[in-house]
Amino acid sequence: MIPQRNALASYLTMTTYITTPIYYVNALPHIGHAYTTIITDTYSRFRRLCGDDVRFQTGTDEHGEKIAQAAEKEGCSPREYADRISNAFRETWPLLDVAPDHFIRTTNPEHIKVVQALLQQVYERDDIYFAEYSGQYCKGCERFLTDKELIDGKCPDHLTVPDEVSEQNYFFRMSKYQDWLINHIKSNPDYITPERYRNEVLSFLSEPLEDLCISRPCSRLTWGIPLPFDENFVTYVWFDALINYLTGIGWPDGENFDKYWAVAEHVIAKDILKPHAIYWPTMIQAMGLPPYKKLHVHGYWNVDETKMSKSIGNVIRPGELVDEYGADTVRYFLLREMSFGRDASFSTQAIFDRRNADLANDLGNLFSRSLTMLAKYADSIVPELDKASVTEDDRLLVDALEKMVDEYRQCMDNFEFHRALQAVWEIIGMLNRFIVTNAPWELAKDAAQAGRLRTVLYFLADSLRLLALVLRPVMPTAAGRMAAALGVEEQLAKAVLADEGCWGKMQSGTVLNTGEALFPRLDKKTAQPAAPEKPAKAEKKKAKEAAAPTEEQDGLISFDYFGKVELRVAEIVAAEKIAKADKLLKLTVKAPEERTLVAGIAKHYRPEDLVGLKVIIVANLKPAKLMGITSQGMVLAAKEKDADGNERLVLSTVAADIAAGSRVA
Ligand code: MSP
Repeated sequence: MIPQRNALASYLTMTTYITTPIYYVNALPHIGHAYTTIITDTYSRFRRLCGDDVRFQTGTDEHGEKIAQAAEKEGCSPREYADRISNAFRETWPLLDVAPDHFIRTTNPEHIKVVQALLQQVYERDDIYFAEYSGQYCKGCERFLTDKELIDGKCPDHLTVPDEVSEQNYFFRMSKYQDWLINHIKSNPDYITPERYRNEVLSFLSEPLEDLCISRPCSRLTWGIPLPFDENFVTYVWFDALINYLTGIGWPDGENFDKYWAVAEHVIAKDILKPHAIYWPTMIQAMGLPPYKKLHVHGYWNVDETKMSKSIGNVIRPGELVDEYGADTVRYFLLREMSFGRDASFSTQAIFDRRNADLANDLGNLFSRSLTMLAKYADSIVPELDKASVTEDDRLLVDALEKMVDEYRQCMDNFEFHRALQAVWEIIGMLNRFIVTNAPWELAKDAAQAGRLRTVLYFLADSLRLLALVLRPVMPTAAGRMAAALGVEEQLAKAVLADEGCWGKMQSGTVLNTGEALFPRLDKKTAQPAAPEKPAKAEKKKAKEAAAPTEEQDGLISFDYFGKVELRVAEIVAAEKIAKADKLLKLTVKAPEERTLVAGIAKHYRPEDLVGLKVIIVANLKPAKLMGITSQGMVLAAKEKDADGNERLVLSTVAADIAAGSRVA
């Protein structure tokens, strides 16, 4: 029979504490914030699936100049302003199926107490001193920048010339911990990942580290936590904010603190690498605490290849995307499209395509076809597998399924979400081909094949169970609906990957439920792009120019431009002549849904020779009416002329059997 491995041996359960940055309350949530929070949520759900005790924390960063200025602009107090925007963040997360265990605000009295206690402690250890300082102060970054950081005299992030500020302030002896930090990063290769960011930090640390200014005089800023040892100053917002990771688990002696601090993992984007990879570890060291375990750093989301910014007017709001596509599609898209650590570009076309190709066609069709066949040929009851009819190909499929689970687990652990999903989608493709190859509808016609039919149906039911399991961290709602339709909701709700993440755990006799389509195919006409805010005119023009893929240059087109053409494999299921049109044939094709095409091939092909042929079509061509028939796409064919000028036309097909609807790229 089919060998089953001892899956348990390769899994470890642990305790996990995972955090997002706490977001400034000077702007509403956008897809950048959503991405960090969704991957952190996905990771925490994944670790729970592995059996871990998990704590996931997010929140808002509410002090500092930026917030005070934003509140003034709105004509309200910083507190009122912070309450409003903090709520907007808190209310956005459930829309995306994000479920943190704790939401922290830096204006909470407990946080203020902890910051003051830690400042006092570091001050008493003589790691904070008072001095006069002159330097280049960037308001956007809310910190002094070194000469080396400036590009053409400007802050590289905010593109503004910093102010020359000279004032007396308190400083943290960060430089004292430089050697310790270099050594710690070098001896813990996974401390900062991916490697490029680790290298960036080590390169920065190859120059002498300056001490960190950790106060702001009240004459300049009052919206901050007062220094416990000098009431004329408030705490620098980064010194205040980073401490949230300790406050949220009850430093100094809460039960959660003992349990979670040693395993803390922070998730951030590259913009705040320095505070997290340099300020924070040295602060922790000065506080006499063990270092956090890991820092995961991701790249930036652009929009249509352009930097996302309010002034350009291309900010994408997660709430609008959810209204358009649903939380599962948004989560899947963000995780699948960005390779962790690198930048990625959002576009309405890209999310639309992923929804229709990966979710509606690949996963959605597999799911609905399988359930329909289980209903039709097995009365919606998972049949008993017929051991005698298991083939060598079935064994290979089991191997592939279990290999997929291993790869998925490893990739999820390494924050390679896009690769984990690639592995899952390879299996989905394999299962769609399994259906075509085994053609249950043919087996059902032959009583002698009843055993084989049961085996094929069992394979489909069990594979779908496995897919519902591994997709749960990524798309909790869709995976829940899959589990409910498969009658394994309870079984999977409590499941641990080590137990359920292998083949053959579907109980024969399980009663299936019918469900609605998982991911209905979106119609281009109804799917509206998530409306960006109105751009300023000049900025819009600039952004458009930068965003427009080079359509044609020296006869060459860009990859993006080509990517807009949706080519698919289509199976011709019917073909007929069209009256009064001697060049045209009406074709009915499956790609994988049925559609009608009108093709100018009547002079080259007889209708009866076409049925069953798999051709390549342009699937996203605007529909056109020909002889009163609406053609929903175009069949590709090669043409040549012989020496006499006669035209020869040959349809383009695929070199081996592949599921109808497969994307050609
Ligand atoms: N308040 C600080 C963080 C303090 S943590 C102790 C802050 N806040 S922020 O609102 O500016 O959020 C920055 C974070 O938001 C980034 O590190 C990233 O997680 C997310 N992103 C903001 N814009 C982003 C993109 N365009 N792309 C990807 N993530 C982005 O910095």
